[in-house]
This record gives sequence, structure tokens and C-alpha cells, in this order.
Amino acid sequence: MIEPTDKKRTSRRKFLVGAAGLAAGAATGAARADNAKNLPPDVADWTRNLGEGVGVRAYGQPSKYEKDAVRRTVPWLTATPESSVSFTPLHALDGIITPNGLCFERHHGGIAEIEPSDYRLMIHGMVDKPLTFTLDDLKRLPRVNKIHFLECAANSGMEWRGAQLNGVQYTHGMVHCVQYTGVSLKLLLEQAGVKANAKWILAEGGDAAAMNRSIPLAKALNDCIVAYRSNGEMLRPEQGYPVRLVVPGWEGNVWVKWLRRLKVGDQPWFTREETSKYTDLLESGKARQFTFVMDAKSVITSPSPQAPCKQKGFNILSGLAWSGRGKIVRVDISLDGGRNWRTARIDGPVFDKACVRFYYEFDWNGEALLLQSRAMDETGYVQPSKDALRKIRSVNSIYHNNGIQTWALKPDGEVENVEVG
Ligand code: MTE
Ligand code: CO
Repeated sequence: MIEPTDKKRTSRRKFLVGAAGLAAGAATGAARADNAKNLPPDVADWTRNLGEGVGVRAYGQPSKYEKDAVRRTVPWLTATPESSVSFTPLHALDGIITPNGLCFERHHGGIAEIEPSDYRLMIHGMVDKPLTFTLDDLKRLPRVNKIHFLECAANSGMEWRGAQLNGVQYTHGMVHCVQYTGVSLKLLLEQAGVKANAKWILAEGGDAAAMNRSIPLAKALNDCIVAYRSNGEMLRPEQGYPVRLVVPGWEGNVWVKWLRRLKVGDQPWFTREETSKYTDLLESGKARQFTFVMDAKSVITSPSPQAPCKQKGFNILSGLAWSGRGKIVRVDISLDGGRNWRTARIDGPVFDKACVRFYYEFDWNGEALLLQSRAMDETGYVQPSKDALRKIRSVNSIYHNNGIQTWALKPDGEVENVEVG
């Protein structure tokens, strides 16, 4: 059995030995001959020659050696690319922020191309004064900056009936976490003057799907943001340029992109996306509806099938946890399929309804392990096992699968998506 490596037991010497071993192991055969002239004490080509000048790349791109860190699709999953999904490469990232170009995309009618000068947001329905805002109008209003995760309700949806997709990018990659800049929705609604008996709002997109969802007014007045920036720059086209709705902690579907209209009413509209879709069919034949909140969830991003273990000895296990009900307070790790649990180390900021990054450093002697992570949030909610979840939800559903993920680490370092009983 592998024992956790606490600070006292992980000597610096032990770690350095491990690192040197990895370097020597990587430089084998022909590769070693070529690389040898680059390694200290020799001087590499990149030191002998001048590098590329400033300004060649007007918009910077990652190093050509980081080709693995890209969004990927599963072609057989959907019939057309216009109504499809690409997945965040979680195995290739660290920290809590998703770079804009790597945020998963989910569209029902392709990416709308909106000229910012022609952009309008209309607020109407049960209001004293219907209003229309231009993008400049929105930018002139007081701003808020908030870091939040967005998870599609269908994330891990393929895994309800057992382990399916071999990669954290595909099992859990319909989540991203960025910093939004925009206007509080409460402020906009106050400007329009919401009637006393209003209870819901309808948010509608300007894309070809005109995707629309009903959202309780209480949520709209609580923490929603009409956002136009992500991680400092203007939203990317695929994330709803120029304006999207941010609905912290709630399923991605209600975060309407290319936001064109907000209608205030006294009851929900029962749109396609909240009747035929985004409802959770139970064993009884009844379906849960308006299941907005994304419950606490976590996943180990490394080791994982796309990020196998490269060496024995000191290893870093890392992952992400998030909860739609508030802050994550603890993440536990199991190396033996859920029999024994140890507390992981959360590092970096912990924000409300945002991803947190966790680590667990351990010594691996090459034996087979069953890796799991389990998140807990500030309401006391504990991420359930997949079996516990199936007992209350059956397997008819696609949505809201926040069960504990198991990765089987094999003696050769490869990792596989499995389930334990
Ligand atoms: N808004 C519009 N207008 N059209 C869409 O197809 N897809 C929704 C939501 N907002 C969608 C939309 C779904 S199902 C999800 S999960 C999120 O946007 C995905 O946001 P992202 O593409 O920024 O990751
Ligand atoms: Co979605």
C-alpha cells in the first residue's frame, strides 16, 4: 500500500534524485546524441543565435511544443458541428483559470457573428420602462469582476451507465473557469423597474438557435452578470461575443450567449431547453425540472488517461473541484478505490462558485492504484459515489452526473477510466 508523503518524509534530496532520474530516462538513443550539445555545460543553439524579434506575433500563441493543450471534439457524439461541443484539455492545465482559447464550447446553432456596433440588449415584459442597451451603454455602467466556473449540465453525461470515454478532457472537459467583467443584472433590471408581481425572466440568445431559458427573478437579482469580458479581453466569439449572461453555480445552459433579450414575467416560459431537454428523467417516469444548481464535483486531472505517470517515486496528483452552492472547503483523495481517504492540499484562491486546484504528493512504487477525489462544499454537501447517485437518479438521465470518478493507474504508468463497485 502506498503511504501519503508528508512534508517531513519528502526530503528535498529524494525529490531531486527523482527529477534527475526522469531527465536521464527521457534522453535515450539518438535523441540523447542530438540533445547532448544543448545540455549544460554545452551552449544550446537558442543561446548562440538571436531569437525572433518583438511584434512578429501581434496576438501571442503558446509554444509549438504545447500542441497537446488544445480543445478536442468527439466526432460521433453529435450529428453536425453547428450543434456540438468541444472539450477543455483539463489534463494539460493547472491553477484555476482556463485560458480563453481553451474554454470548451457548446453551441446549438453555430457561432453567431455579431458586429459590436449593431449589438443591442432589450429588456421588456413586466417592467415600468422597457430599455434597449448598446454595448457602449453597458460599458458605461459600473463594472463587476468575478471568477466563476461554468459547467454544462451534460458534463460526464456519457458516464451514467459505466466508464465510457478514456480521458479527463472527454469525461469532465465541459467545464471552464474564467474571470468575467460586466454589469450586474440587478442594476439593469432596476433601471427598467421590475413590476411587483414579477417572478421570472426569460433570457434569449441572438444565435441561429435563439436559445432561451427561464430563470427565477430571485437568482437574476442575486448574483447574475451581463458580461462582455473574459480574463480581461473581450469575450471570444464562441463564448458569446459581445455579451453573455453569467449565472454563477447554475448549469451552463442558462448562461445564454450572444444575449439579445431579457423578458420579465410572472411564470416560466417552458421553452424547449427546459422541457424536452435539460430535465432529468427518473426511474418512476417522472422528470426533475429546473434543476439549475451544479452540485459539488471534483476530478483528478493528473494522473489521468491523457496524463500518465512518467516515473516511480515522488509524484504529484492534481485536480479541480467546484460547487454551484458556494465555496469548496475540502477535497479528499483515495488511492485504493474509496476505502481510505486523505485530505488533499488546496492551493491558490478559493472563490465562491469557482474552481479550486488541489494537490496530493505521494510516493509511487509502481503498484496498481485506483485514484479518486471527493469534494465537499461549505453547505456540508459531499460529492457522492456513482452508485449512490444512480440509486436516486437511475441511469435515464444525461444531466447532472457529479459522481466520484475512478482512474486505474497501472504498473506501467498508463491510466484508464474504470468504475469500482
Ligand atoms: N447560448 C446560446 N445563445 N446558444 C447556445 O447554444 N449553449 C448553452 C450556453 N449558452 C448556448 C448558449 C450551453 S448548453 C452551455 S453548456 C454553455 O452556453 C456553454 O458555454 P461556452 O460555449 O462558453 O462553454
Ligand atoms: Co450545456
